[in-house]
Amino acid sequence: MHIITSPQELAATCLAWHKDRDDIALVPTMGYYHAGHEDLMSYGRTLAKRLVVSLFVNPTQFGPGEDLDAYPRDADHDAGIAAKHGADVLFMPEPASMYAQDHATWVDVPELSRGLCGASRPTHFRGVCTVVLKLFMLTQANVAVFGQKDWQQQAILRRMVRDLNVPVRIETRETVREADGLALSSRNVYLSPEERAQAPEIRKGLLYAQQLARKGETNANLLRDAVLRRWSERLPTGRLDYLTIVHPESLIPLTEVTGPALMACAVRMGKARLIDNILLLH
Ligand code: PAF
Repeated sequence: MHIITSPQELAATCLAWHKDRDDIALVPTMGYYHAGHEDLMSYGRTLAKRLVVSLFVNPTQFGPGEDLDAYPRDADHDAGIAAKHGADVLFMPEPASMYAQDHATWVDVPELSRGLCGASRPTHFRGVCTVVLKLFMLTQANVAVFGQKDWQQQAILRRMVRDLNVPVRIETRETVREADGLALSSRNVYLSPEERAQAPEIRKGLLYAQQLARKGETNANLLRDAVLRRWSERLPTGRLDYLTIVHPESLIPLTEVTGPALMACAVRMGKARLIDNILLLH
């Protein structure tokens, strides 16, 4: 595996591969790998002749007061994992090489970025779209793999790619979970033992709503209230950021759950802000 830090070198490497008619799969990450990232990489490995994994804690997707500096990092461990999964290249740029001091161009999908996580992180998805489009331009990847834990992110990136005719296919992978249901996240390291013990209730609440919806409950407010009641008893250290039911593609809030519906949430626990989601109906 070749570690590349220069965007120009990444572009040249990928261009040479394309000239040889090798296709490229890209797995964009922010590092501190867990089994969820490993799943994205091993799936990416099956999709194309060449696998590029990027590891970049992208500063522009963090707002003021968010955890950019505290975000967990372990480059040596991560490089071992990427190599184990057969990455041809691990791209680890410095922020200054990705963003010129006078960087002034942003990619934004405002309609899909205002709700859910965007309500408390107003510039987050603009940062994500901008860096991911840069990675698409540098690699000219044929396919890119993202996790469904960040449902809103992948919905926004699919829309960006469609709207801007970016010639990349987006594939998503199901959320990888701990045995007790907690979605794997690099931010789980922020949880105290007490918070960690309660955190699986996030998933349990969403499963409860799914069960009610499958039994025929269609009222979105009722489904939401049922989860909130459960959380107020069983998730006392959690502070709700949002819990909402939306159309899985358009992310438009739903009042009735009669067709495709996604319940998504963010819950703050101590220093962590945990997100999760579930398809109530397909
Ligand atoms: O999901 C993430 O880890 C990041 O948002 C991504 C897609 C790597 C962009 O920085």
